[in-house]
Amino acid sequence: MGVSSKKTISVIGLGYVGLTTAVGFGLKGYKIIGVDLDKEVIAKINRGLSPIYEEGMEEALQDVEVTATLDYGEVLGSDISFLCVHTPANSDGSVNLDYLRGAVLQLVDTLQAKEGPHLMVIRSTVVPGTTEGVLLPLIKDRPNLQICVNPEFLREGKALNDFMNPSRIIIGENNAQAGDWLYEMYQSFNCPILRTDLKTAEMIKYASNAFLATRISFINELGNICKKLGIDIYRVAEGMGHDERIGKSYLAAGIGFGGSCLSKDLEALMAQSRSLGYEPGILREVHRLNQEQPRRLIELLKKHLSPKGKTVGILGLAFKPGTDDVRESRAIPVVEALLQEEARIKAYDPKAIPHFKRLFPRIEYATLEEVLKSDAIIILTEWPEFERVDYKGKVVIDGRRLSKAKEASVYEGICW
Ligand SMILES: NC(=O)c1ccc[n+]([C@@H]2O[C@H](COP(=O)([O-])OP(=O)(O)OC[C@H]3O[C@@H](n4cnc5c(N)ncnc54)[C@H](O)[C@@H]3O)[C@@H](O)[C@H]2O)c1
Repeated sequence: MGVSSKKTISVIGLGYVGLTTAVGFGLKGYKIIGVDLDKEVIAKINRGLSPIYEEGMEEALQDVEVTATLDYGEVLGSDISFLCVHTPANSDGSVNLDYLRGAVLQLVDTLQAKEGPHLMVIRSTVVPGTTEGVLLPLIKDRPNLQICVNPEFLREGKALNDFMNPSRIIIGENNAQAGDWLYEMYQSFNCPILRTDLKTAEMIKYASNAFLATRISFINELGNICKKLGIDIYRVAEGMGHDERIGKSYLAAGIGFGGSCLSKDLEALMAQSRSLGYEPGILREVHRLNQEQPRRLIELLKKHLSPKGKTVGILGLAFKPGTDDVRESRAIPVVEALLQEEARIKAYDPKAIPHFKRLFPRIEYATLEEVLKSDAIIILTEWPEFERVDYKGKVVIDGRRLSKAKEASVYEGICW
């Protein structure tokens, strides 16, 4: 087995992780066949347009050889397939494997026409034991097919940069030859490469996300206490961060974490842990705190204004700046709470309005200028353009610590 730097690879699922993987390996000199079930996604990519908003993605698409298709048959032109389909949560928090199992089954079926070796690389996030217990049995009668686990750690908003400059690459393998194959592909990346068994690789992804979530809920809890004491949590975090055992990252107190990964992965790990008879106390509290934090923002607003019948302007709908992704965005519980309070909502986001509109078609979406005329303004995403706004004379409740917003005539920060 072996892959030269000009070979064709395939990527299954062309969302945030799949498109990044496709374009990233494209920039490394591979030809890419991308497969997705969504016609619109395919059409856009083939026109050189990015179906997601990510810094540098559309420009990079011009520089790579990526052909998107609905047809799994095209995969036969490659020897290695990266599976990047979504693994959403079931209602009990466990991972819904329907899409991933569907993709593997379709690959197995397609690859019947192939005699030579083919490697499937699981980039989708799945709880420890899934590849061994659920996916490997699907290829058990097919000695030419191999599976590795290769979790993705990218941050949306910086996805391509993170792919090209990873902090580490994890290769989970049950067969050294398959691991060697993937290892060879990653040789040109300048970072540690850790080779483990399949379920350790899966757990490294969950442990990393659970740890990041824990840091955020930890600093938010400390922030909630500091606010009562009149202490600036950002100064506290700065003082903590100089300690190299602690570090500075993920200590920005605020309204909590959103996005497609941290909450979902935390819940999946908790569900798995409970299914094994272990109650994950720390993880449970991390999650509970994160659910409560947006409600605190509404309580702060009510200190200054009764929301019923008032116009509340929302700045920021994306779960973080640099993306149009609204999955688990903290704007969702805030809007729900404001609707319950019978407030009139006007919302603005530079990129995420189309996605948010699908969740809340009836609230009003407006320009930044219009939103600033509201009776009160709530800041939910730290887009750089919100730092250039004139907040003087306004009532501002800030979930993200924008320094300019402090000029408001009434200013409340969530943890400060
Ligand atoms: N988004 C992130 O920041 C991130 C980071 C690391 C890991 N992950 C994990 O990566 C996986 C993908 O996440 P995402 O955010 O890219 O998802 P996404 O929803 O953006 O994209 C998934 C894509 O897969 C396609 N798809 C679904 N079933 C398919 C099938 N059978 N065949 C072909 N295509 C199919 C969908 O149409 C969609 O375009 C998830 O497991 C997620 O937990 C995500």
